[in-house]
Amino acid sequence: MLSDAQKDRFRRDGYLVLPGFKRAEDIAALRDRAGEIVEAFDPGQSRAIFSTTDQARHTDDDFLSSGDKVRCFFEEEAFDEAGALRQAKALSINKIGHALHDLDPVFDRFSRDPRLAGIAAGIGLAEPQIWQSMYIFKQPGIGGEVRWHQDATFFETDPITVTTFWFALEDADRSNGCLWVEPGGHAGPLRERFVRAGNTTHMERLDPTPWPTDATAVPLEATTGTLVVFHGKLPHYSAPNRSPVSRHAYTLHVTDARAAYSARNWLQRGPDLPVRGFV
Ligand code: FE2
Repeated sequence: MLSDAQKDRFRRDGYLVLPGFKRAEDIAALRDRAGEIVEAFDPGQSRAIFSTTDQARHTDDDFLSSGDKVRCFFEEEAFDEAGALRQAKALSINKIGHALHDLDPVFDRFSRDPRLAGIAAGIGLAEPQIWQSMYIFKQPGIGGEVRWHQDATFFETDPITVTTFWFALEDADRSNGCLWVEPGGHAGPLRERFVRAGNTTHMERLDPTPWPTDATAVPLEATTGTLVVFHGKLPHYSAPNRSPVSRHAYTLHVTDARAAYSARNWLQRGPDLPVRGFV
């Protein structure tokens, strides 16, 4: 599936951009299904918000118990001072997570694409395990910033193997909060670790290396259907979306079962829904 040149580029840059990877009809099916999930979601039952600028502070039971569920999370700016939604529910959801790929047939089909198994093998994931899926809305006007981070912060394995599969479900550019990455930054240290102890979480500082600046970061503008695959240590962020258009994306976080998965990771799976790979 991947050429030697693509494998070399992944090793050198820490990411690979594959435009036109998903067909328009597959994306339409996923977007329709996400819309149905949000439609069926009763905001009265959960006001969980998702913050990647300070998730440790905002972490609650809705988040920590969502590893084997399909649950909607609100944008931080979704509510006014009185606690009422500022705009329609469908425009207030930050993301749906975190077991769409195992619990929903439409998401399962999209995620367990045999070509993804080929890509995983090509970049060295011999026994891939899909721990997490997220449908990210990046809503117009209020889509929150996701500050600089490395995904290995949230999925510790020994050695580090977590790899992100990021699908553009809409055009992503600088105006609506596309990804920014530091090419080659995966060769640097892991800076932080998100640790769970029971029902609390905290962020551990592992290394004082500063985050990249705009001088070395590059925007990954991506057209609908593009797949971006990136290394768990690649520093990346996305700016808030202040534009009038949304920036939907879908992500999978995948580790290699040959590496030990830490018991301190927030997301654990029990025997009732064991973690699985692409097939
Ligand atoms: Fe990330």
